[in-house]
Amino acid sequence: MPDCCNPGSARYEGVFDDRFAHDVAKRYRRRGLTAPERRIVEHLVALGLADRTVMEIGGGVGEIQLELLARGAAASTNLELSGAYEAEARALLDERGVAGRATRLVGVDLASNGDRIVEADYVVLHRVVCCYPDSERLLEVAAAHARRSLVFSHPPRTWFTRMSVGMGNAMMRLRGREYRGYVHSPGAMYGALERAGLQVRPLRTGPKWWVVAATRA
Ligand SMILES: C[S@@+](CC[C@H](N)C(=O)[O-])C[C@H]1O[C@@H](n2cnc3c(N)ncnc32)[C@H](O)[C@@H]1O
Repeated sequence: MPDCCNPGSARYEGVFDDRFAHDVAKRYRRRGLTAPERRIVEHLVALGLADRTVMEIGGGVGEIQLELLARGAAASTNLELSGAYEAEARALLDERGVAGRATRLVGVDLASNGDRIVEADYVVLHRVVCCYPDSERLLEVAAAHARRSLVFSHPPRTWFTRMSVGMGNAMMRLRGREYRGYVHSPGAMYGALERAGLQVRPLRTGPKWWVVAATRA
């Protein structure tokens, strides 16, 4: 699908470009999933993958979906605002022999133009809320699309993460880029999921990425 539907997409493509996609795919081919990605996959494997569908928002080259499809998930859908991942993602899907069960859509922001996107059993957002200005809105809409569980990662709100993101944003401003990173309040994000009827449970903490599961009661 052409990147035609979301005027905000250019902001993401300037940063999450071919080189970023290539580096992520190369790291995944060499070393497999990262620790937070493994925790996300373990959680969904424990809930059960047979006959279950997965939607990943901002899934990049799709390494989490590849692992879930290889372990028996019925189908996956990836929503991305950057079109730069598609060639790497297609190659990985073909290598794993799971392309027939994967759908990839570029330029669809569930929070603003996702009316036609159907629900999935599981919704995943890994390293995404920190790239999106209105994380509560995104999580609220994502939760409404999760039939069983939503799992997401976010940076902890520490002086270190706030300083790192602040420095990154200063660089973006200097280079004339529109993209900004965010360290949103964890409490506000969990509150949005609870208001959407999900029970929130931390799965992993640490200095960089916390992983949180939100499951329908
Ligand atoms: C840091 S990258 C992470 C990509 C991938 N999840 C990974 O860990 O390699 C963040 C991604 O989120 C995407 N993104 C941000 N907000 C989004 C939204 N509302 N819908 C779809 N993608 C989004 C960006 O385009 C970007 O590719």
